Amino acid sequence: RESQRASLLAVNDFALKHFEDNLFNTDEGREVGLSYFRQRGLNEAVINKFHLGYALERSNALYASAMEKGFTEDNLVTAGLCIRTDSNRVYDRFKGRVIYPVFSLSGKIIAFGGRTLKKDVAKYVNSPESVIYVKSNELYGIYQSKSAISKLNKCILVEGYMDVISMHQSGVENVVASSGTSLTEGQIRLIHRFAENVTVIYDGDAAGIKASLRGIDMLLAEGLNIKVLLLPDGHDPDSFAQSRSASELEAYINEHETDFIKFKTDILLKGVENDPMARARAITDIVHSIAVIPNPVSTNLYITECSRMLRIDEGVIRMEVTKQRADIA
Ligand code: GTP
Ligand code: MN
Ligand code: MN
Ligand code: MN
Ligand code: MN
Repeated sequence: RESQRASLLAVNDFALKHFEDNLFNTDEGREVGLSYFRQRGLNEAVINKFHLGYALERSNALYASAMEKGFTEDNLVTAGLCIRTDSNRVYDRFKGRVIYPVFSLSGKIIAFGGRTLKKDVAKYVNSPESVIYVKSNELYGIYQSKSAISKLNKCILVEGYMDVISMHQSGVENVVASSGTSLTEGQIRLIHRFAENVTVIYDGDAAGIKASLRGIDMLLAEGLNIKVLLLPDGHDPDSFAQSRSASELEAYINEHETDFIKFKTDILLKGVENDPMARARAITDIVHSIAVIPNPVSTNLYITECSRMLRIDEGVIRMEVTKQRADIA
């Protein structure tokens, strides 16, 4: 309902101001939150650009100040800013965490992510879904990055909040994050509104590799051109961007991004050269990625490329693609 949307957006706006005010204008915010962001290498310009904030440790700091401004408890709870316990106690969801606001495409504050600074069970806590926040249709950073994405006709896809922010600070501004979940069709269509080319840069660990492989067939089926860049082990785009300029990053990306088929083939065929059954399974999986590509010209190029890499006759791969297409349709 329109009035509920408006009231949730209003309380989020208030919370944003509150969290930003904490960060810069309270001792706790400066000593804990701001010094954390500084220690992570962020400058004030980028902190402001992404409207980063801090939620005070006191469990009703936001609650009290919002109630004083006339917001209702139900409003705060529905927006997910506060949590109501079974015994009807209400407390601030993000207390003691640094805050990453999530902007919609048009710049509205639709959610928050909060990162703990302690050894906590959950590193990040996020706003729950609501009428203004359907997670599967949103991408972190889209509002700040959309103009660069469309200008460059290229979107860099990363995993986390800090990855987007650090890359912006380095001057690479065509970046969005899937925020650790697997990509959805809604997110992919959102990217496609601005660009035809996507480069996936996930963390250089096993989880990152797995996540890259998972998202790829969906990106292909949308007709996007997709490349993958695997960072050196132990790096994520944030740590990698820290000591590098925009031109260094762009040069590194251009040199190291690989076509997804090559990426997938390399990974799936590693270690199975002498195991015919495993090799056949890998090939079927690779062919599946080719079969979902809507553009026939691209499909043909990939069949040729694949035949060369796999050392299998082109006709055989073409037949398998046709067969899998029939299954998909
Ligand atoms: P830093 O440790 O601050 O550098 O964060 P990161 O973004 O590098 O974290 P990581 O690579 O572990 O996770 C990537 C993204 O997944 C994060 O930015 C979050 O959006 C999400 N994520 C990570 N941990 C959690 C968690 O405990 N809960 C939830 N809901 N999301 C998480
Ligand atoms: Mn297109
Ligand atoms: Mn990771
Ligand atoms: Mn990471
Ligand atoms: Mn990180």
